[in-house]
Amino acid sequence: HETLDSFPKDFLWGAASAAYQIEGAFDADGKGPSIWDEFTKIPGKTFEGTNGDVAIDHYHRYKEDVKLMADMGLKAYRFSVSWSRILPEGEGVVNEAGLQFYEDLVDELIKNGVEPVLTLYHWDLPLALQEKYNGWESRETIKAFKQYCELLFERLGKKVTYWVTFNEQNVFTSMGYRWESHPPNVSDTKRLFEANHIINLANAEAINLFKEMVPEGKIGPSFGYGPVYPLTSDPSDVLAAENAHDFNNAWWLDIYCKGKYPVTTFKRLKRMGIAPTVLPEDEELLKSAKPDFLGINYYHGGTVKQNKLENPTENEETNKQFSSTDPYLMQPKDEQSQSPEVPMFQSTENPSLEKTDWGWEIDPVGFRVALRQVFARYDLPLFVTENGLGALDELTKEEEIHDDYRIAYLENHISEMKKSISDGVDMIGYCAWSFTDLLSWLNGYKKRYGFVYVNRTETDEKDMKRIPKKSFYWYKELIENNGKNI
Ligand code: BG6
Repeated sequence: HETLDSFPKDFLWGAASAAYQIEGAFDADGKGPSIWDEFTKIPGKTFEGTNGDVAIDHYHRYKEDVKLMADMGLKAYRFSVSWSRILPEGEGVVNEAGLQFYEDLVDELIKNGVEPVLTLYHWDLPLALQEKYNGWESRETIKAFKQYCELLFERLGKKVTYWVTFNEQNVFTSMGYRWESHPPNVSDTKRLFEANHIINLANAEAINLFKEMVPEGKIGPSFGYGPVYPLTSDPSDVLAAENAHDFNNAWWLDIYCKGKYPVTTFKRLKRMGIAPTVLPEDEELLKSAKPDFLGINYYHGGTVKQNKLENPTENEETNKQFSSTDPYLMQPKDEQSQSPEVPMFQSTENPSLEKTDWGWEIDPVGFRVALRQVFARYDLPLFVTENGLGALDELTKEEEIHDDYRIAYLENHISEMKKSISDGVDMIGYCAWSFTDLLSWLNGYKKRYGFVYVNRTETDEKDMKRIPKKSFYWYKELIENNGKNI
């Protein structure tokens, strides 16, 4: 039995959240609407029509929530800022009450010994920018984003060290511009890649501005990474996995770290007429902006095989199989000419892996593979900004939650992360998803991730009482001994 390296002394054991999923107070104190405030009201888009109007009311209960973090001994807390709370129109007039809320939250965290990790964009674009400029399809939105970032860098740059630019750009662009399951509810691959390119530019602008304004801080994007496995050792399946990696991972990570698109996917999109428009000055900007770390959100990877095309029924079957709300598993519907994957790879089931209640593969070893791959390819410190298990939790009569399955999930993943550190991966910290239960964008409140139970359902807000689960005490102990027993 090999001895593993210990976790670094100052390893940031954390937990994460996002504004729309916890804050509620959707129109309080001058907040403007976001695209999610509108999207969730479209019938049929979310589970039982849930929305974040109230969420878990963190906006009014943040002190109680931070107190629980302190009780747990949490070292870091990742949260996101709601852009339209600060700039109700997305740009222009500033809402001081919004800025103050985040400053108060940061002060409360610091007072309680919890390191704040601030995400600038976790999907809730101000609705005004969508209406005025078509959101991320216009370069005007980059200017607005810069104003928003500048306000936060100015106000919180001295208090917050770790900053995340965009959360899972791969997920929100695909869901929003291809699968019509996030705002702006579009299905058009040309628009997808154009909008994605503009977000890349916004990411680079934010990083460059940050370097000027907060030279002591650390900034990087959080990417939803999944390693890709070939179904068999048939070289054509291996090539398919390479294609899928290029298309699903490198398409974003190469831009973040090398400032350029991977050539194979770019050529393919170009042949299809859906490659983004890249101006000469864009290339310069993208090359100039280097993140300090990469945030990695890990839930699972994917398995692919060669896409033979000659068996349409098989394709149809796969499409049905993957028509879940899992962004990592989305597959082309029937618009084959618009689907860049079709000749390159086809997603399939991994026969070796178990799944969660929501059909997500459980793959702790894939976590080690992921961390190793990203570190080897991009040579930047990694910060796990999300990893966790969505499950149905049961509140007992004694008001307890015995979530041993969550403990097992986290333990197995943390153990693989520890092995990756022993392998030599440079790791800053680990934020489990999530601290409290919260609104799952599309799955309501049944799918719970938290260390802390929140007493509410889709239809009944109840008292929203916070109740630490068994996993809360388990993580507390793990933090206390810095993962020694893992
Ligand atoms: C990530 C997001 O994609 O997955 C989170 O960054 C999200 O915001 C998490 O909640 C889990 O997804 P879901 O659909 O199970 O809530």
